[in-house]
Amino acid sequence: MPRIAYVNGRYVAHADACVHIEDRGYQFADGVYEVCEVARGYIVDMKRHLDRLDRSLGELKIAWPMARAAFQIVIREVVRRNRVVNGLVYMQVTRGVAGRDFLFPANTRPAVVVTAKKVDPTQVSKRAEEGIRVVTVPENRWDRVDIKSVGLLPNVLAKEKAKAAGAQEAWFVDTDGNVKEGGSSNAWIVTKDGALVTRPAEHGILRGITRTTLFDVAAKLGLKIEERYFSVSEAREAREAFISSATTIAMPVVAIDGTPIANGHPGSVTLSLRQAFFDIAEKSPA
Ligand code: PDD
Repeated sequence: MPRIAYVNGRYVAHADACVHIEDRGYQFADGVYEVCEVARGYIVDMKRHLDRLDRSLGELKIAWPMARAAFQIVIREVVRRNRVVNGLVYMQVTRGVAGRDFLFPANTRPAVVVTAKKVDPTQVSKRAEEGIRVVTVPENRWDRVDIKSVGLLPNVLAKEKAKAAGAQEAWFVDTDGNVKEGGSSNAWIVTKDGALVTRPAEHGILRGITRTTLFDVAAKLGLKIEERYFSVSEAREAREAFISSATTIAMPVVAIDGTPIANGHPGSVTLSLRQAFFDIAEKSPA
């Protein structure tokens, strides 16, 4: 079955889907995006993702490409046309197509692309059983990483560095040695007394939707959350570490820069968060 993409008002064969060479997303990374998990036929946390899309668009003064209700219909339609039961749906909005000029163009319509992709849940579960390895890299991104912009080159380079070191994620570290977040995920540790620690979202990270929903999950499980800075050395000594994102949920981290975390196996707190996540998250039928 051929994959289908939504591009500026039309559903087209994924293989033939194109945007214009003067799309400002292509020329200036002048656009934003969202990724929602699709699990068991449901789009997970769509409302929170669209709220964040609204915020990202607002921060960059890009208009919604259509009414939010219409956008939800497109998202569902792309998931359905691609028969995605488990996987993800990707949406991107750029400022649109205009002759190359740094200034915002007048009267340009935002450009929109929505795609969906199947992901084998057994592969993801297998990875969660093994855990992932992370490496640390110095923060070198701009200071508006709270906006989910498509300008991701530092993230690309950091994740390549991780791959070269046999790891699956890179953690950006600030000049004080504190962990910020991953190349495409938020970073967490579990202290010896079982508290969850993650950096405050106001300080140089993206406010992850999975992170927000994990606060709800932790409350249900009676786990304490400390929203505070943590250093790389504290993380190395932690009881557990994990990352969160729409595509990984809570994914155990078993080594940081080659140092095993605790016994080098996924931690029980992380796995319990992972297990409880789907039941507690908001779910919209695709
Ligand atoms: N990335 N931090 C960064 C830099 C991210 O790119 C992401 C998500 C997150 C986690 O956010 P959320 O829980 O809302 O997915 C944190 C997506 C998955 C991506 O770029 O593919």
